Amino acid sequence: MNIGVLGAGQLGRMLALAGYPLANRFTFLDTTGHPSAGIGDVMVDTDRRHLAAFLEKVDLVTYEFEHLPVSLVQEIEEVKPVYPSSEAIRVCQNRAEEKALFDRLSIPTPAYRLVESADELEAAARELGTPVVAKSVTEGYDGKGQAVLRDPAEAAEAWRAIAHPRLIVESFVDFVREVSIIAVRGRDGEVVFYPMAENQHVDGILRYSIAPLPDLADSLQQTADGYIRALLDELDYVGVLTLELFQCADGSLLANEMAPRVHNSGHWTQDGAVTSQFENHLRAIQGLPLGDTAARMPTCMVNVIGREGDSSAILALEDAHLHRYDKSERAGRKLAHVNLLAPTHEALLERVRACAALLPEAPAPSFSFE
Ligand SMILES: Nc1ncnc2c1ncn2[C@@H]1O[C@H](COP(=O)(O)OP(=O)(O)OP(=O)(O)O)[C@@H](O)[C@H]1O
Ligand SMILES: [Mg+2]
Repeated sequence: MNIGVLGAGQLGRMLALAGYPLANRFTFLDTTGHPSAGIGDVMVDTDRRHLAAFLEKVDLVTYEFEHLPVSLVQEIEEVKPVYPSSEAIRVCQNRAEEKALFDRLSIPTPAYRLVESADELEAAARELGTPVVAKSVTEGYDGKGQAVLRDPAEAAEAWRAIAHPRLIVESFVDFVREVSIIAVRGRDGEVVFYPMAENQHVDGILRYSIAPLPDLADSLQQTADGYIRALLDELDYVGVLTLELFQCADGSLLANEMAPRVHNSGHWTQDGAVTSQFENHLRAIQGLPLGDTAARMPTCMVNVIGREGDSSAILALEDAHLHRYDKSERAGRKLAHVNLLAPTHEALLERVRACAALLPEAPAPSFSFE
């Protein structure tokens, strides 16, 4: 089976690494001109002239990047199976569509408004009550295209800074922690769920994900499973879907956003789960049985961002697994991650601190259950 992947970054690279044992081959279509996958057959197509050649080579198509023209994905769907479908891309690449779907399925979200001018932004901030977060409706990632307003008077400045014709404005959630749920749906509709992870973001970028959680009530996992199952079934989804949530002090969960693909908060599964999110995505899209999602041990994923650490020192830590993306160093760029495992959460936190100390730009790890 030759799998076509739209996008050619580290997520595609890790999909391929998980697919070789299944005798999958990979062809990447990069539309940015800057592929970094460094594996498989990479076709750079900045002027949309290689699509036919790409489709000729592949048996089915998936993607590692959702900010793609929906028309392109629909065009591909005419020729080859695409999993997840263009409908999933259409919804997940647009925060307004995403929130409307959450509303329709009764999945709670922060209060929000859609605005199309600085004046409307100011009115929304007044109505919702500050602080609020304003986000561009499309194209955002890693906290880009966002601004926090502490006062409605900051609207004009935020509008200029984001420079986008349509924004979503959300109440700023005073969460206890951020969590995510990752689930996989097969072609036959079977669904499996990973244990939820706690995610620590700094300046809008994910730094640490830890799973399973020592203090997560079964009922909360079940609530999250129910939300993501509703999304998967509604979209008739095939593959891995990620839902980011805020856990509030009263124990409730509010949906933040979703991603129609393997996700950074699921990298822990490469070493910490029986079957990784990458392998399960490949199993799902090929119509193969889904693998066990259970955690083997408490696991923490540490992102390496901006500058790399000393690989030898990292690998000398016990049960540490370094995954490098073979990218050059640049401020704010995701370069690698380290998965750390330990028999207890206490031992794990010690290992995480030791690892963070080896990374030049790592913020201090801090988890809600410490
Ligand atoms: N309504 C909110 N209340 C509080 N914090 C928020 C809110 N919205 C976003 N944040 C913070 O900003 C981070 C990034 O926001 P969001 O997930 O919407 O954007 P993103 O750029 O798509 O991120 P990514 O692609 O990295 O997941 C969140 O993980 C959270 O830490
Ligand atoms: Mg996010």
